[in-house]
Amino acid sequence: MAAFDSSESESLLQALRAANMRGQWENEAHRTASDRDVEKGVFGPKPGGVPHVWPWATVKPFLERSCKAIPETFTSRRSLMFNNPGLPRGTTTSINMGIQMILPGELAWAHRHSISALRFVISAGPSLSTVVSGVPLPMSNYDLVLTPAWEWHDHHNAGDQPGVWLDVLDGPIMNSLNQVFFENFGPDRQPLANSDTDLLSSLRPPENLLETKRVFSETTKIYPWRETEERLKALSEKPASPYDGVVYEYVDPVSQRSVLPSLSCWAQLLRPGEKTQAHRHTSSSVYFVVRGNGRTIVDDVELTWGPNDCFVVPNWAWHEHRNVSSDQDAVLFSVNDIPLLAFLGLYREEPDISIRELPSHQTRRKG
Ligand SMILES: [Fe+2]
Ligand SMILES: [Fe+2]
Repeated sequence: MAAFDSSESESLLQALRAANMRGQWENEAHRTASDRDVEKGVFGPKPGGVPHVWPWATVKPFLERSCKAIPETFTSRRSLMFNNPGLPRGTTTSINMGIQMILPGELAWAHRHSISALRFVISAGPSLSTVVSGVPLPMSNYDLVLTPAWEWHDHHNAGDQPGVWLDVLDGPIMNSLNQVFFENFGPDRQPLANSDTDLLSSLRPPENLLETKRVFSETTKIYPWRETEERLKALSEKPASPYDGVVYEYVDPVSQRSVLPSLSCWAQLLRPGEKTQAHRHTSSSVYFVVRGNGRTIVDDVELTWGPNDCFVVPNWAWHEHRNVSSDQDAVLFSVNDIPLLAFLGLYREEPDISIRELPSHQTRRKG
């Protein structure tokens, strides 16, 4: 067997680079693994990005300022997107999160795209709505509204108060696959399906090669918060997950699958004083604080959060949650990329005993 010769190795690598090749041994996983992983002999990814909080006290003034600086007529969406400080782009390696404000009388014009998206309403006055494929969906506080891939959607504020909602999209996934398609409807508003369906269909190019096959149920695009609260309350009477507290996954009522092919939405309740056990998983998560105050410890970083704050837990990072109140619940809404990872057989959780204890596990399985 030949002995390793570092100068010959370096000379070889240089010659390979000149020929547009490289040695696969240059990026072996164990070279970047943590000490703990090396001890266990199992090498995985480093967390993608860093844990971070976007406090409402910082975000709200920027929303108000953007409403003055950027007319809604100037852009399809006046949304502020949250960049992970540890990533070149995106809130996680697979998810974008941001917050959008729409003033009274404004509309965000109709378009569609191959990126799947959802809205979680933060503040809705009367007459805030989203139209999805011709169906108007009135929006109330903390409702979840889906705008799945390639569905026409426009947003309207016909009331007298600003409307604010969380935007979550699978943009980084679509970008990494180079699969981003986008199309403006033309007119600002799409017609309502029950008023002029002929117009709606006539505006869709009949031979449009970009039409995509929908892979999920078309029955439900909105999940009212009152139903979610009722489910959380009912679940809080039962044993909770040691890693997530009382947790509920939104699912399609027909298929019982996650709400989008790539993304899963969760509502989570931490009871007064509750402290969860640490775990990690290959999925990343973005969080919005519906109410309450707490801390989430991610690896060595402590994130402190309160109402309307947003924060991110990168994939494969150890984390645990704490409700710091002794008498008030803390409620979190979160979005993760488990459905896509599960489909690819990549979902992995450590310690994995929690898989048996989560309430909705059709998308949660061992990697
Ligand atoms: Fe959109
Ligand atoms: Fe977790």
